Amino acid sequence: MKIKIRVPSTTANLGPGFDVFGAALSLYNEFEAEYVPNARKTSFILEGEGKKLLPKGEKNFVWQSMLETFKVLGEDKYNLENLNIRIKTGIPLNGGLGSSASAIVGGIALANVLCGKELDKSKSQVADIAIKIEGHPDNVVPAVFGGLCACSEDGDGDHRTILHLPIPKLKAVLCIPSFELRTKRSRQILPKSIGLKDVVFNISRVAMLTVAFCRGDYSLLKQGMQDKVHQLYRGKMIPAMNEVFETAISAGAYGAFLSGSGPAIAAFCNEKEALNVQKAMVKRWKKESISVKSHILDFD
Ligand code: HSE
Repeated sequence: MKIKIRVPSTTANLGPGFDVFGAALSLYNEFEAEYVPNARKTSFILEGEGKKLLPKGEKNFVWQSMLETFKVLGEDKYNLENLNIRIKTGIPLNGGLGSSASAIVGGIALANVLCGKELDKSKSQVADIAIKIEGHPDNVVPAVFGGLCACSEDGDGDHRTILHLPIPKLKAVLCIPSFELRTKRSRQILPKSIGLKDVVFNISRVAMLTVAFCRGDYSLLKQGMQDKVHQLYRGKMIPAMNEVFETAISAGAYGAFLSGSGPAIAAFCNEKEALNVQKAMVKRWKKESISVKSHILDFD
C-alpha cells in the first residue's frame, strides 16, 4: 500500500495576529510512504525545490514527526523500519510559507495512516501533535484544516479553540526573497514584553481584520494588517520591508504583511490586480538588489 498526502503552504500572522492567524495557500509539499517487505531500513527519496537542502534519516523533520506520532499513539517504532519515504517539496524552505509546519503535518498524517487511524476523524489529534512539535499553532492549524483560521490557546497550550473564518475571495501574492531567515532567529530578536500602547494598537487591528474577513469588507485590510508586535523588529533584518508593503498597496493590494516570520511578504488583492501587485513588489525588491521568487496563490 502506498500512502500519499499533500499538505498546503501557509501564511501566518496576517500582520497583527501574531501566533494566532494563519491561512492555507495553494502551494504544496507531497509526502508518500510505502512498506517495502524485504528492505532492511527506511530509505528517503527527495524531490523538488528543497531536495539538496533537506536531510535524510534522523534529522529529517518528516521522519522525526512520524517517530513522535508513533510514540504518542503507543505504536512500535520498528514498524517504521522498512519504508520508502518520498518527499516532494513545492514550498520554499525557511521562506515564511510554513515549510516546517507542512513537513510536520505530513509526517504525522503519514504515521497516522500507517497505524490504521482514520485521518478525517483524528484531525484535531494531528493538530495537537503538530503544535507540540512546532511550538506555535498559526501555521500548523491551517495546514491541517485548510482555510483561514485563528487559534486561541490557554497559557500552557494544553487547550485550544480553533476558529474558522470565511475564506477570502481574494488572491494572495507571495514574494520570497533569495535570502533565508530561520524562524528561530526571527523569534529570538523579538522583545520579551510589549508596551501597553502597542498591545492596544494590535488589538484594534485584529478587531478590524476579523470584521474585514467576516463581512468581506476588504477595504479594512490596509489598516487591519498593521502591526506593532513583531514586524517592527523583524523589519530590521528585511531590507525595504515597509516600502514593499507600501508598493503592494499602491499597486492595488488591500493590505500587505510579513508572511509568518519572513522573509516572504504577502499581499492580499483582487484577482484583476494580482499581476500588477506581483510585478510592483518584485521590482521594488530588485531595487535593493534582492532577487525574488513570486507566486499568485489561492486560498486552499
Ligand atoms: N507566528 C510565527 C512567527 C510564525 O511569527 O514566528 C512562524 O512561521
